Amino acid sequence: MSDIEFDQKPQKSKSGGPPILSCYDDLAASCAYGWSMLERGVKDRKAAFHTPSVATITASGSPTIRTLVLRGCDTKARHLRFHTDTRSGKIAELQANPKGAIHFYDAGTKIQLRLGVRFEMLRGPDYDAAWQATRPMSRECYQVTQGPGSPIDTPQEVRFDAATTQDGEAHFVPVRAHVETMEWLYLAARGHRRALFDFTQDTQSWLVP
Ligand SMILES: Cc1cc2nc3c(=O)[nH]c(=O)nc-3n(C[C@H](O)[C@H](O)[C@H](O)COP(=O)(O)O)c2cc1C
Repeated sequence: MSDIEFDQKPQKSKSGGPPILSCYDDLAASCAYGWSMLERGVKDRKAAFHTPSVATITASGSPTIRTLVLRGCDTKARHLRFHTDTRSGKIAELQANPKGAIHFYDAGTKIQLRLGVRFEMLRGPDYDAAWQATRPMSRECYQVTQGPGSPIDTPQEVRFDAATTQDGEAHFVPVRAHVETMEWLYLAARGHRRALFDFTQDTQSWLVP
């Protein structure tokens, strides 16, 4: 059975559980801790926040969700960055509706973040900087000649061509997620803590967990 319990009543502290974070009862510190976890998610491939679930809305109005690697975090500017293929379904979706959501959960600290975001495809110097920072192995993904998600008869039909895809750059796109809201949930034996930070309104509030 999972050791993660979601019960709104404070529970007796169990020995061996993680120590309570100093931000436990501090709204601003909880927000700052959330951003520090996002920053770590970019740098630490083993961090739970390295691979969040990113949701967009399809043309038919249904939500759809997938795992993406967190590539950038600018805490001051309140935005994140992902990399993907221009031909992927998510790009058509975010072009039609730039609103989305991103979900993170770290089982070590028992912290969940739910972000409300607005996506933007990067161009110009931001695009160039992101492409220059990609490694050869990452570039290979974008050298596939058929669009991601295209039906094929056999897996062997997939073709990669560095020359016709400009080393992959022809299909690479960095996407910025402007974080509009952050919902914080911190599961703790002595009582959970939940809060909402709205960066568009510059407001913050505790919520009933
Ligand atoms: C651990 C993991 C990391 C992934 N990282 C990325 C990524 O950074 N960019 C990306 O486009 N797809 C990534 N994918 C694949 C996506 O989850 C998804 O299958 C693909 O992008 C197609 O999504 P779409 O059809 O909704 O556009 C990753 C998948 C996994 C399991």
